[in-house]
Amino acid sequence: MATKSFTFDLLIENGTVIDGSKKPRFEADVGILNGRIAAMGDLSGQSARITLDAAGKIVAPGFIDSHTHDDQAVLSQPDMTFKISQGVTTVVTGNCGISIAPLREGAPMPAPLNLLDPDNSARFPTFAAYLDALRSNPSAVNVAAMVGHSTLRVMTMPELERPASVGEMSAMRELLEEALEAGAIGMSTGTYYPPAAAAPTEELIEVGRPLTGTGALYVTHMRNEGDQSMESLEETFRIGRELDVHVVISHHKLMRQGNFGKSTITLPLIEKAMQCQCVSLDCYPYNASSTMLHSDPLKLEGRVLVASSVPHPELQGRDLDDIAVDWGVSKAEAASRLQPASAIYFSMDEQDVRRILAFEHTMIGSDGIPTGDRPHPRLWGTFPRVLGRYSRDLRLFPLETAVWKMTGLTARTFGLPERGVLEVGNHADVVVFDADTICDRADYQTPTEAAQGIEAVIVNGVPTWLNGMHQGARAGQVVSRTQRES
Ligand code: ZN
Ligand code: CU
Repeated sequence: MATKSFTFDLLIENGTVIDGSKKPRFEADVGILNGRIAAMGDLSGQSARITLDAAGKIVAPGFIDSHTHDDQAVLSQPDMTFKISQGVTTVVTGNCGISIAPLREGAPMPAPLNLLDPDNSARFPTFAAYLDALRSNPSAVNVAAMVGHSTLRVMTMPELERPASVGEMSAMRELLEEALEAGAIGMSTGTYYPPAAAAPTEELIEVGRPLTGTGALYVTHMRNEGDQSMESLEETFRIGRELDVHVVISHHKLMRQGNFGKSTITLPLIEKAMQCQCVSLDCYPYNASSTMLHSDPLKLEGRVLVASSVPHPELQGRDLDDIAVDWGVSKAEAASRLQPASAIYFSMDEQDVRRILAFEHTMIGSDGIPTGDRPHPRLWGTFPRVLGRYSRDLRLFPLETAVWKMTGLTARTFGLPERGVLEVGNHADVVVFDADTICDRADYQTPTEAAQGIEAVIVNGVPTWLNGMHQGARAGQVVSRTQRES
């Protein structure tokens, strides 16, 4: 049987390209063949198996979510609709010190590790086993995975409330080496959280030694994002210098009212450090945070919304204050009774959020937590919200800059080869969106609404989201810093 041969598998015609490099938009057709961008320019009259008309629309690189907790979701919710529907084609996993590998069968999942894996389904004794599982069961998005220091602690230490011993640090180093060898793009830490709070700076440095010289990153949910933000920044810079590695400050923010406005101090401090070492940062476009539900009263100041609770799913979406009143107990006691649980904290100043988002070097990362029915709306809304609300409506930065913060800048920072910029030869991760209508629709009341204005999402050349619908494709790849055969 004769098959007609086409020049392209997919041709995106008549669109306006914002290529992810921050340069001004231009008119071009984009031709895709065998998962790569094969041609850009005037391609009218060329044949293609599928043609998409993008007249009046923006054609951009697929968005890279620089900060996710999708380690388990890419296996258990492989359609990844909450990300694909926003135009996200690549997720960076393993943030905040927590990754689902390596962990032994039956290993405990102390909070916040349990945010990844509420039903304790998957266990991977090595990082290679995790990446192999992703390769044999791909999800709809590409995955660039990091290993978490808290996970390494859980794997090697019988109790977590103390610094690691010399022997335990060396065991963690071996696990980190294995992860890097397997393709991990960095190590994350979360000394803010109970499983790693007892780790001194020296432990982070000693465990992080294998990062040196590999190009892999040190990515941190810092020890403190409130009263001790400056000290935490200095600790992060010091670790970066001692290891000679690129550091990423995760979800930079200033928590608690007394610290509102201090981004006017932290951002210049970060900029100054950038002159002597490699420093990056990411941010999500909301003034409420979300993580495990704390039981420490100091961490429960202000409005707290219950996002998920294993013993009390019926209370998801309610204010902790109201629950405490109903039960006739303190907020802290109510929080303990809801465990294991996650929550949303209204603890930031909108002006800080805008200043940090607009800071030249800030990448966009959702920090979405893909569990429960009432997640923080950032899980479904982050990228369209930056494009629609912060770039178009509030004019915080031009659309080209907004796209760069979620594509080219992120790919360059994490060293993701041949992604993040629309260029001939690169992987064909592409999003087509309407710059006039794009906006997030998820909010605190209805947090799982898909965004508006995303017209098409292509992952490695495969149409994955069209006309507001998931196409069922699962064309995601494991992305490592260096190109490997997979
Ligand atoms: Zn975090
Ligand atoms: Cu996080």
